[in-house]
Amino acid sequence: MAPISPTSRIWMDGQLVPWPDARIHVLTHGLHYGLAIFEGIRCHRTARGTAVFRLAEHLERFLDSAKIYALPLPYSGKELEKAVVELVRANGAPEAYIRPIAFTGYGEMGLDPTGSRIQVAIGMWPWGAYLGEEGMAHGVRATVSSWTRIDSRSLPPQAKCAANYANGILAKLEARAAGYDEALLLNTAGLVSEGPGENVFRVRNGVLSTPPASSGILRGVTRDTVVRLAREDGIPFQGTGFTREELFTADELFFTGTAAGVTPIREVDGRAIGTGTYPIARRLQGLYDDAVRGRLPQHRSWLTEVA
Ligand SMILES: Cc1ncc(COP(=O)(O)O)c(C=O)c1O
Repeated sequence: MAPISPTSRIWMDGQLVPWPDARIHVLTHGLHYGLAIFEGIRCHRTARGTAVFRLAEHLERFLDSAKIYALPLPYSGKELEKAVVELVRANGAPEAYIRPIAFTGYGEMGLDPTGSRIQVAIGMWPWGAYLGEEGMAHGVRATVSSWTRIDSRSLPPQAKCAANYANGILAKLEARAAGYDEALLLNTAGLVSEGPGENVFRVRNGVLSTPPASSGILRGVTRDTVVRLAREDGIPFQGTGFTREELFTADELFFTGTAAGVTPIREVDGRAIGTGTYPIARRLQGLYDDAVRGRLPQHRSWLTEVA
């Protein structure tokens, strides 16, 4: 994991505060029961200054996560949008990862969160490629986890809730202990779901596919971006998902995520994937980079300029 490099300010409960002052009590409710919903967003350097990528879509998912857990957020989407822009401007970091989080605060304990004070904070810091520059360039090695992906009947995967990540952490720990870079989780039906913090795509005979929203995934903003860019580029797409054995027979596999970008997978459980050249993943990696850096005029609306 990457150590956090502090920036100057954190937005906390409506105010910009110096980084070291953004503190909470050890008996904060959300810390004990995992009731914290969050987002992962990035801003990038573009020809028109710093721009946040698909801010509205990330905040829409943030509001959806709050809705699923019946958390009464004290701020609207528009107010949070303004807060992100204000924070990015105050910190002046052109390339950063932005983390809004809402959680049940200090004052009450017990499983019933009704009446808990909801605290909201937004932090940001520079964060390179989540699966490493080497992984981005040459692909990562993945293993199918013995842990099953959480399911809507137990813990809703479409809410980006801190509690979900205990499932991802178990899979990640197992993968790392076995010498792999990343895990791939199957869902309760035995079909491929996603990585602990990434969606997954497969290419076979030129056709792109990815597990559907109902397969235990978080609906990734990057996943949506890649599907749209692929369609525009004439790459055939089907959203019907795939099985464990179809991982091994793929011509290409890749992870997508705000943190991971578009990262090829070069091996799954000892089987080399395709020829190791990844033409479609590389093409989409390039288009994604163009999109986040404002080089696709048709997708300017995906950028919130901060200058
Ligand atoms: C479990 C999980 N799946 C998928 C993703 C990819 O989502 P996005 O592309 O919106 O970052 C993430 C990252 O937020 C994640 O945590």
